[in-house]
Amino acid sequence: MLSVQENQPVEFSATLLEKFAEIVSRYPQGKQKSALLPILHLVQADYGWLSSDAMDKVATYLDIQPIEVYEVATFYTMFFLKPQGKYNLEVCRTGPCCLVGAEKIMKHIESRLGVKEGEVTADGLFSWRGVECLAACGFGPVLQIGPEYTFYENLTEDAVDLLIDTLKNNTTQQA
Ligand code: FES
Repeated sequence: MLSVQENQPVEFSATLLEKFAEIVSRYPQGKQKSALLPILHLVQADYGWLSSDAMDKVATYLDIQPIEVYEVATFYTMFFLKPQGKYNLEVCRTGPCCLVGAEKIMKHIESRLGVKEGEVTADGLFSWRGVECLAACGFGPVLQIGPEYTFYENLTEDAVDLLIDTLKNNTTQQA
């Protein structure tokens, strides 16, 4: 994943532009706006989030107004409008998961990572947030980590610690 900070201009790679073109080719001429959602997913997969500059460049590419991109990107909660940690822990905060300890898990993550919801750890590795039902209500508390949206179910504080340690170790080994 490429790293891009707020207010930093982006330049889409040739590979990304090729993927854009393939997606646009699926739609009738003049209906290229239909490619907006999959293109935004591709941009987010490359950069980790959608900067204003990236959204403006998508608008230019699709020959639509920037506001048409912003209104889609701000509607869907799966799009991030500011930088996230390499691992963004999304904890279900809906009723059934709260009944089995989701709030305790979120407090634990906050204290373990030392950042509030939506913030990124100093090493850039982690961020976290509460999200609505992840459709694993019988296995709560549950969290997911994108971009593959891997699920971790029946969470305990110890399981969260193990998960965070494993992700940190994996990153150290890859470096
Ligand atoms: Fe948590 Fe549905 S309530 S997954």
